[in-house]
Amino acid sequence: MDSPFVMIIFGATGDLMKNKLLPALFKLYQEKKFEEKFYIVGFARRPFTNQEFRRDAANHLRSINLYYRSFESFKNNLYYQQGDFNDPRGYKELIKTLKIFDRKHRECITRFIYLATPPNYYEGILENLRKTKLSEGCGRKNNKWTRIIVEKPFGKDLDTAIRLDKKLSHLFEEKQIFRVDHYLGKETVQNMAAFRFANGVFEPLWNKNHIDHIQITFSEEKGIGNRGKFFDGVGLLRDVGQNHLMQLIAAVAMEQPKSFTKEYLRNERAKVIKAIRPIEEKDVSKFVVRGQYKGYIREKDVPKDSNTESFVAMKFFIDTPRLQGIPFYVRAGKKMPENIVEISIVFIQTCHVLFREYGCPEIDNVLTIRIQPDEGIRLRLIAKKPGTKLALQTVSMHFTYEEAFKTKGVEAYEKILVDIFAGDQTLFNRSDELESSWKFITKILNGWKNGDSKLTIYQEGTWGPKEALTLIEKDGRGWL
Ligand code: BG6
Repeated sequence: MDSPFVMIIFGATGDLMKNKLLPALFKLYQEKKFEEKFYIVGFARRPFTNQEFRRDAANHLRSINLYYRSFESFKNNLYYQQGDFNDPRGYKELIKTLKIFDRKHRECITRFIYLATPPNYYEGILENLRKTKLSEGCGRKNNKWTRIIVEKPFGKDLDTAIRLDKKLSHLFEEKQIFRVDHYLGKETVQNMAAFRFANGVFEPLWNKNHIDHIQITFSEEKGIGNRGKFFDGVGLLRDVGQNHLMQLIAAVAMEQPKSFTKEYLRNERAKVIKAIRPIEEKDVSKFVVRGQYKGYIREKDVPKDSNTESFVAMKFFIDTPRLQGIPFYVRAGKKMPENIVEISIVFIQTCHVLFREYGCPEIDNVLTIRIQPDEGIRLRLIAKKPGTKLALQTVSMHFTYEEAFKTKGVEAYEKILVDIFAGDQTLFNRSDELESSWKFITKILNGWKNGDSKLTIYQEGTWGPKEALTLIEKDGRGWL
């Protein structure tokens, strides 16, 4: 970013700002990814002054060991505007501040408007951006320098997502809208396309003739922490299922794009998400498992009778010629035994054809893409054990980012911000991608609402309810 800009962050006292945006912005500043003239204005309800906002940011960075001396110069670019998201007064005050910035530079500096609040505030914020004309940029009836960044979850279901999109497109052109899913910014997710399509060896095997099934595990050790207010109104399916999981599914299942450019990549992502076979309302309890960890209802800001899920497992199919008939098993949850996000492609067994009596393992070849931690790729193979007798053993070939590149790569939010500055929308959702994923997810939500919404309580530190095991085991398979 080589020109002055202002980034207005709605929800600037929340978890996302503190743990993701602030560290990422500060890191980019340290790496001189933008020039000295910038302004970050936090907008939230808390009655902070600029000084208090700066102090709070410094304290937080200290608490997560990311405070460095250069914060002292960075912090002078932080400003705060107190306001209610649904009340135009705060917005009007904000406009005054923005005008001061513009005047200082004698030009309309670029405005980034970042919605980092819980999603139920989005409509109110957009309404006030319209009413106060804040969305119009610096008043020349020309908002081409303004960009709006919207965090997931984008809506609550299909209808609200469509409504939100309409509102957005009244105020902004598509090229100004950045719908964030930070999983698209993860190094390992981006690598999926390179890995699949740059290496000639995997692509011929990446289809129903060679794959038995695909499984994805998205497990987090932490619970919902202090995010009860946000999470309880959302639930795990909307929080990570409708977005992050969809991106992992798209990365593993999409076709090769014609070229590695924005429209072609987004087209292929959209096509594959559209091809996920819907789980009809009446079948939801057969294909989807809902769980809640035991202590969930004792978390801060969670009602004692909450029926919100913190775990989901599901089985579904993708109707593309490449993958038709191959089951996908996906599980995601909080308070699980380990932090793991990985995709495994389990290949059809062939060992037994020749080697049945020499110790074939239960599953043969598995290609595992580890999204995090220990980012890398592992291929499970069968080899002959050294010795005079013929006996087999499972071995593994692996590469990790740490070993190969001596770095884990760039933090997802740094990549997301760099792309926003550059105006590159490749790693952001297009509205048709979102619509297809909401179509799939909304059917499940409706199945829960109108039929069976059985919620099984699971012990913290386990792999979720036993129904999640049954879901895969009744097909003669198992979670890896
Ligand atoms: C967020 C969800 O989008 O992603 C959180 O709201 C989740 O509930 C987080 O913990 C996971 O992201 P990461 O980058 O920590 O894997």
